[in-house]
Amino acid sequence: MTDQDWRAVLADVVEHAVSYREGAPRRRHNPQQSYAEARAAFDAPTPERAQDGASIVAELARLAEPGLANIIGPRFFGWVMGQSHPTGVAADWLVSAWGQNVGNAHATPTASACEEVVARWLLDLLDLPPESSVGFVSGATMANFTCLAAARGEALRRVGWDVEADGLVGAPPIHVVVGEEAHSTIFSALRYLGLGAKRIVSVPVDQQGRMRAGALAQAIAPLNGPMIVIAQAGHINSGGFDPFSHVAEAAHAKGAWVHVDGAFGLWARACKDRAHLGQGLELCDSWGVDGHKWLQTPYDSAYAIVRDASAHRRAMGISASYLPEGEERHPADFTPELSRRARGFATWATIKAFGREGIDDLVQRDCALARRMAERLGVAPDVEILNDVVLNQVALRLGSDLEGEASDALTVRTIARIQREGVCFVGGAHWRGRQIIRISVCGMNTTEADADASADAILDAWRAERAAGAERIDISGALPRSP
Ligand SMILES: Cc1ncc(COP(=O)(O)O)c(C=O)c1O
Repeated sequence: MTDQDWRAVLADVVEHAVSYREGAPRRRHNPQQSYAEARAAFDAPTPERAQDGASIVAELARLAEPGLANIIGPRFFGWVMGQSHPTGVAADWLVSAWGQNVGNAHATPTASACEEVVARWLLDLLDLPPESSVGFVSGATMANFTCLAAARGEALRRVGWDVEADGLVGAPPIHVVVGEEAHSTIFSALRYLGLGAKRIVSVPVDQQGRMRAGALAQAIAPLNGPMIVIAQAGHINSGGFDPFSHVAEAAHAKGAWVHVDGAFGLWARACKDRAHLGQGLELCDSWGVDGHKWLQTPYDSAYAIVRDASAHRRAMGISASYLPEGEERHPADFTPELSRRARGFATWATIKAFGREGIDDLVQRDCALARRMAERLGVAPDVEILNDVVLNQVALRLGSDLEGEASDALTVRTIARIQREGVCFVGGAHWRGRQIIRISVCGMNTTEADADASADAILDAWRAERAAGAERIDISGALPRSP
């Protein structure tokens, strides 16, 4: 490829990206293609000959765009997903162009050094112990995995077992204590670590999905030996926070390691108005948090934060005779991978683009928008807001005057209608025995007008489905809920 060709390809990419992003506010929020249609669009025999770059990029944009979800659009509330800040995207493009592999500080001193500084910024913003180490991983799933690997190693080291050297076979059993409504990826991480997704002590939670402090104390009282307690900052449906001061005190009294899954909720610590939710979080031992959710870094980006840096390094460290060592911080000592993308640059750029004030404002604004939507939706007599809207999540139950099955079926159809119409995008979940609509306000582009238009679109879809449902299924026979 000549220099001239390179220029043409990269310039074309800018055009495609800019026109896609500029269209986001007006574009429908649902993909305009089904999976089958998208597959058919891409389906082609293995290419035999080289093709020129500019035509490949044009073809990619043409084939892919119809099937993209408008995640960067202002009314996308389907899952907790950020909107890829343009400055972070630009930094990430440079990372790709530079072709850096950030495993070892001698190979890529700049990328490694940048991560060291960004790690310090993150600890400062999140108000976490400054001595903690930070691994730049792909998502909260990997952040939880990395932190729990450190927890596993240290919990066993304290009873004289070296899991890094001797593995788990024959090791003393580890008690893993988890809130009943932990995120599903916690169980994945436990599975990867040989701790078993089901071999856990499950702690009852309250109506908001928060671990009950008394129940935790009760659950761990009879347990002895190595122990890991896993708490949560930001419940996936309610946004609720576990009572960290109590959790840390009770768990530490038993010698346990306390890990926090704070995929999105940990960012409450960076917001003056919401920081109280995460009180006591600083007492815990490790924290997993995403960049690609509330911080708006482009995918993929998350941080595995461990107070005991040596436990972190023992769990993840990679050494080989061909990898130079030294005093420098080697990024591969803190992540599961050796070769990986230089993720620190995009985080560096995104934090600079917002500044501390901008992050504080973003979190506060999204929380206010979530409350605004909840208020607008909650005035409808047959709509119930199931959670205390303390953060950015709203859990909505439709048909609160109907029997469960009828309201669940209508809610599923309402979600499908909302997604089909594309004014906004919401998802669903089962929570507290009911089908709910889940609204996650996690972007930087959503305005009050977007929040209002989305709430109205949800209510309109609900009214339409309810009217259609009355004809389609006999919900007139569904009993009104007893008062
Ligand atoms: C509480 C919580 N933990 C973990 C995850 C997994 O995060 P990721 O998809 O970045 O791996 C999520 C994702 O929504 C989450 O909300």
